[in-house]
Amino acid sequence: MHKIPLGNSGLEVSEIGIGVWQASSEWGASDEEVVQAVEKSCELGVNLFDTAEGYGKGHSEIVLGRAIAKVGREKVMVATKVFSSHLRYEELQKACRASLTRLGIKQIDLYQIHWPDPWEQIPLKHTMKAMEKLYTEGKIRAIGVSNFAVRDLEEARSCLSKADIVSNQIRYNLLERQVEEEVLPYCKKNGITVLAWSPLGQGALTGKYGPRKLPSEPARANNPLFSKHNLLAANRLVKVLKKIANDHGKTVSQVALNWLARNPIVVPIPGARNATQADQNAHSVGWKMSADEAREVERACEEVKLDYFLR
Ligand SMILES: NC(=O)c1ccc[n+]([C@@H]2O[C@H](COP(=O)([O-])OP(=O)(O)OC[C@H]3O[C@@H](n4cnc5c(N)ncnc54)[C@H](OP(=O)(O)O)[C@@H]3O)[C@@H](O)[C@H]2O)c1
Repeated sequence: MHKIPLGNSGLEVSEIGIGVWQASSEWGASDEEVVQAVEKSCELGVNLFDTAEGYGKGHSEIVLGRAIAKVGREKVMVATKVFSSHLRYEELQKACRASLTRLGIKQIDLYQIHWPDPWEQIPLKHTMKAMEKLYTEGKIRAIGVSNFAVRDLEEARSCLSKADIVSNQIRYNLLERQVEEEVLPYCKKNGITVLAWSPLGQGALTGKYGPRKLPSEPARANNPLFSKHNLLAANRLVKVLKKIANDHGKTVSQVALNWLARNPIVVPIPGARNATQADQNAHSVGWKMSADEAREVERACEEVKLDYFLR
């Protein structure tokens, strides 16, 4: 498994990671199966595992901690997140200590601000000061953010003096490419790694869902990608992915992930319910679609017109 630098942190992460949100009531995957997904990923050289205190109220971190105890701490880069209701100076540090306890580790590799604070309007400088304190104390090895626009990134970076932001975790998949306009160019220019969340559109890009076959968990209940109109549009794109998949002996989801990973600053972090999905996702890299195939995918994307107001 090829490794890439995580921003300017000096750390290296696998070119594909895995999301562990699935170990939570929102997804309802079995804890045991998610532990097996982590084990399988490690076996295949994946080292980046993403969780958050917000996933299942900490349950996802506990499950990842269980997996770490099995596979060995040295095999795992732990990326977790502080929720947007814990962004005050003292509360953020408390949240970090609680995450460390749930994960059963002494140091978090990448600590991320989950979302910019929409409610309390806590000055970002207080939050970043707390992040920097954790960094200088060695409780975290790198500072990351999530769902930050360029204006947020710029402000956050200007509040730091001893470290820089190494990553921005954002929604990025073949159906939802909005970040290509501003965020990706900014991150590329500034050496910030992009962790792509929902890289499979929560399953809409796997080809296994349609208007008559819908997922039922709370995590996807309000995702507009699963409206009839959007799923039909997604499945037209899936047809193109399927052709490329067949030509390479791959699956539709592997093509969808491979397309994202073509960009050297992007690390997709697909969520896996079980070891089979983790295995498939790890094998979405290590091969290349041709430039013509990539263009064919992009042309098909241009035809997709999503409607976010249909539900
Ligand atoms: N920072 C943020 O705000 C934020 C937001 C969302 C997610 N995330 C992170 O990003 C990770 C991934 O995002 P996500 O879970 O929302 O969406 P995703 O990775 O696009 O989709 C995950 C779902 O796709 C299906 N799947 C995965 N691998 C598959 C395969 N090989 N074949 C067929 N189906 C497959 C599984 O669901 P089924 O089998 O049930 O269809 C799985 O639960 C999360 O685990 C979390 O760590 C972060």
